[in-house]
Amino acid sequence: MTALVSTIAEVQQAVGRARDRNLKVGLVPTMGALHAGHVSLIRAARAETGFVVVSIFVNPTQFGPGEDFSRYPRTLEVDLDICRREGVDLVFAPAAETVYPADFHTYVEVHELQDVLCGPSRPGHFRGVATVVCKLFNIVQPAVAYFGQKDFQQARIIQQLVGDLNLPLEVRICPTIREADGLALSSRNRYLNGEQRSHATVLYRSLQEVKAAVEKGERDPVALQRHLAERITATPGAILDYAEVRSAETLRTQPRLQGDVLVAVAVKFGGTRLIDNVLLQVGD
Ligand code: PAF
Repeated sequence: MTALVSTIAEVQQAVGRARDRNLKVGLVPTMGALHAGHVSLIRAARAETGFVVVSIFVNPTQFGPGEDFSRYPRTLEVDLDICRREGVDLVFAPAAETVYPADFHTYVEVHELQDVLCGPSRPGHFRGVATVVCKLFNIVQPAVAYFGQKDFQQARIIQQLVGDLNLPLEVRICPTIREADGLALSSRNRYLNGEQRSHATVLYRSLQEVKAAVEKGERDPVALQRHLAERITATPGAILDYAEVRSAETLRTQPRLQGDVLVAVAVKFGGTRLIDNVLLQVGD
């Protein structure tokens, strides 16, 4: 049975009861509009923990002015059906005032990691994410929390804050779930019109080309970034935000690819901003 609660006291009671039964608690933080990507996180949590909490909260502090906060899809009834079907134990869907009461003044920032890639185009975004995730961790106190690789920078920032603030939980980064043609699942894909949707596969295709080039021995990040940028800017309707090849650990540029490497792109189609990435392990 999936219980739906909206207050912090109710979450803490339910989680407390689970812990009394020696159940390991897993948390899947979401903004709702659940799709197969979220389902894969819920399934990972179900496989590894005994009490699965899904939070559903469209977090206002991670949207900048002019971003899609007001039109972000809110589909609670459908989301609840998915959670019931997937055997989620508890859904926490708080009101904005519960998370951010009028006297709220504290924010969490993960410097450096928040300042690159999506950071410059979305000022304040990662501060909002880090703050709400930190609050959710404190409210739910999970043993494990689950995030998708599609938002790799977000997941890396959360890993960093968990380490830096000594939060007692593990962060799992689960594989990106894709449509048959490679488009990474995202709640924002529904904003794309038919033409934009078909051109949006350029993100996946260009990332795969870079992967193949690295497998053939290319180690120059600048050449790979140039390839990504050329492919994306040649696509009708695509406006490149960034195409970057960086260390997956530090998110810094490398003179020559080595170790765990992140290849990441952000592209706008009309008002819709899409991101995607691949992770590569690069030897000498
Ligand atoms: O990835 C998301 O859906 C959100 O950024 C998150 C982690 C739920 C925080 O609001």
